[in-house]
Amino acid sequence: MILVTGGAGFIGSNFVLDWLAQGGEPLLNLDQLTYAGNLENLASVEGDARHLFVRGDIGDSELVAGLLRQHRPRAVLHFAAESHVDRSILGPAEFVETNVVGTFRLLEAVRAYWRELPEGEARAFRFLHVSTDEVYGTLGPDDAAFSETNAYAPNSPYAASKAASDHFVRAYHHTYGLPTLTTNCSNNYGPFQFPEKLIPLMIANALDGAALPVYGDGRQVRDWLYVGDHCAALRRVLEAGRPGATYNIGGWNEKANIEVVHALCDALDAAVPKAGAGYRAQIKFVADRPGHDRRYAINAGLIERELGWKPAHTFETGLRRTIAWYLDHAGWVANVRSGEYKKWMERNYGDRDGLRSALPVK
Ligand code: NAD
Ligand code: TYD
Repeated sequence: MILVTGGAGFIGSNFVLDWLAQGGEPLLNLDQLTYAGNLENLASVEGDARHLFVRGDIGDSELVAGLLRQHRPRAVLHFAAESHVDRSILGPAEFVETNVVGTFRLLEAVRAYWRELPEGEARAFRFLHVSTDEVYGTLGPDDAAFSETNAYAPNSPYAASKAASDHFVRAYHHTYGLPTLTTNCSNNYGPFQFPEKLIPLMIANALDGAALPVYGDGRQVRDWLYVGDHCAALRRVLEAGRPGATYNIGGWNEKANIEVVHALCDALDAAVPKAGAGYRAQIKFVADRPGHDRRYAINAGLIERELGWKPAHTFETGLRRTIAWYLDHAGWVANVRSGEYKKWMERNYGDRDGLRSALPVK
């Protein structure tokens, strides 16, 4: 079997569902169920005996050691993390705790387990660390896209914590020979993404008639990848990636934030027309994110050349699917926006340039 950490979050749950749908072997899903973890994402595999869920912390060394001993996975795919830049700005400590210390403790438990495996199993074992393009810092408008050899230059506490975890993974390969794989992926979007991130936040606010808060001038550029394509890339890296290697994963799809928001508004105008002005009228430019990285771009040439992976979705097809999913899952959105979510919206947006009155009140 394989062990997945963070498999109740956005990308992790998409990975678990895809893995099982493609006839993958049983998997153990270790997730602490923080605000971002949601068992509702996994409702469709509730009765599937191949999915074993354990609620727990990657930093709980005893728990992880026991699970490894008992289930003897052939691979660990490490998704669990604190993942939202704005939360890292307002409260960086948890990012250090989970992303740095948690990953370190997980690596220690995995190293102890791996050391005791029979030679053939030890050689075939993989630790796949799921990371982000944000570790490379920011690009100017004409700079070449990030390649695997770019120097690390993280700018947010989130990016710094992921960079630190990447360095530990690298060191465990270099020093102890642990067969690691690291992937650095660009911005994902798709089903089950928590509506604190740009795309699901804008869809939810638009449908509420609330403000669409664009930070700064909205000209920051991100590369966007449909989550199903990311999952396919991870399966391929697990299958054929070179131990110790890093692969950048991206969609060849750079867009300024304002373009993304316009595309969302136009698609919603067509799908859910409303009286009067279209959804673009709800756009509000608000105070920028401190230290906001201007541009990310991924050169995904290595994974294409070496492993034959390319994204299957364009931004248009991925966005269409994503919007359809959110429109079909209003109950899921309502559930995740209750409780803690309201406090987060107030904390992150309450003081941004008179936006308070425009916050969704549901
Ligand atoms: P997410 O915030 O949606 O989910 C994170 C999951 O990890 C949640 O289910 C949460 O309960 C769990 N978790 C958090 N702390 C834990 C702990 N201490 N022990 C066990 N479980 C814990 O995140 P996501 O967007 O699905 O991202 C998954 C991974 O992919 C992260 O490592 C992130 O850095 C990376 N990544 C994300 C993106 C993106 O666009 N979302 C892009 C590139 C890389
Ligand atoms: P986000 O989805 O938080 O991902 P990341 O910060 O990891 O790239 O944000 C994507 C872009 O959208 C980023 O440039 C910040 C911007 N943004 C807004 O303009 N308004 C918002 O309310 C949010 C959440 C993000």
